[in-house]
Amino acid sequence: MKNQRIVITGGAGFIGSHLTSKLVEMGNEVVVVDILLRGNKIPKDVQSKIEFHQIDVCDFNAMAKICKGADLVFHFAAILGVDIVADNPIETMETEVNGMQSVAHAAAVNGIRHIVYASTSGVYGHLALEQSVSEEILVDPRTSYAMAKRYNEIYLASLFEEKGIHSVALRFFNIYGLRQDNRMVIPRFIEQAMAGESLTVYGTGEQTRDFTYVDDAIQSTIKLAENINGFEIYNIANEKEATILDLAKEIIQVTGSNSDIKLINAPSKRYDYEVGRRYGSSEKLEKKIGYKPRTDLQSGLKTILPTV
Ligand SMILES: NC(=O)c1ccc[n+]([C@@H]2O[C@H](COP(=O)([O-])OP(=O)(O)OC[C@H]3O[C@@H](n4cnc5c(N)ncnc54)[C@H](O)[C@@H]3O)[C@@H](O)[C@H]2O)c1
Repeated sequence: MKNQRIVITGGAGFIGSHLTSKLVEMGNEVVVVDILLRGNKIPKDVQSKIEFHQIDVCDFNAMAKICKGADLVFHFAAILGVDIVADNPIETMETEVNGMQSVAHAAAVNGIRHIVYASTSGVYGHLALEQSVSEEILVDPRTSYAMAKRYNEIYLASLFEEKGIHSVALRFFNIYGLRQDNRMVIPRFIEQAMAGESLTVYGTGEQTRDFTYVDDAIQSTIKLAENINGFEIYNIANEKEATILDLAKEIIQVTGSNSDIKLINAPSKRYDYEVGRRYGSSEKLEKKIGYKPRTDLQSGLKTILPTV
């Protein structure tokens, strides 16, 4: 991907900032749309090489102007974080649903035929009981965030039928890496470990997640974006199941901390914390692009530490 004019919504966020840097490095003209809920995570030297708009994605008129002349849109703007979503269900839904419609129509009126959308492994709910989940199984979204992500996947499928807009929905499995903030478990544990505080683990800590390194996620995302055809869904998963307790132990080890681990009750009405197992299959991804995430947790964690 080179010499393309690319719009990235949420491009100043954690994953978006990595995508922005990579696409600039590859020689593209990048336009970022972001309301900077968590500040601007795009590295300073990259900020001067992009066009930036502090605009709400739900503002269709503004989005239609911004998308003029673009070849491709990555729609990554969202409100996320288990507690933030639970406390702000209306804003979460509005950003997802209105934001997607605004982006899709801004693309359509400008003749843009390709959209890459950040969905979530949260659409699987608690389905990874016996084995890793693949894209073919029926989904079971249980939070407003996951439900809205699934709605948008279906919406994108209909956009292909109705308007011929091609798109891909990426079901990200716990992406982590540099510049992620402490809404998510890995930065939170690292902060606690560096401060010598107890690492607070919800429940028994036996619940599992599939931690996927951000560089692998970006590589997968860009390769998929280069091969969009119709509407498709892909898991972006590391295919390794780790318990939260193991994650806490690993972080204590790589930080060399003296912290201990404290098991506490998860806040009530936080469905995502109660999901017992979640890990994904990236087989479909590998078949499509000849690549899948592969960075092991310890190596990925080590890249974050110097900046904490
Ligand atoms: N990080 C993960 O593990 C993960 C997992 C599954 C899915 N995702 C999805 O990937 C995408 C990126 O996630 P992230 O981890 O980088 O999150 P993030 O919160 O760091 O980035 C999201 C960005 O969107 C911006 N934003 C929010 N509402 C907006 C609006 N109305 N208009 C314009 N900008 C707005 C925020 O300011 C923020 O910079 C999101 O769509 C998220 O749902 C992430």
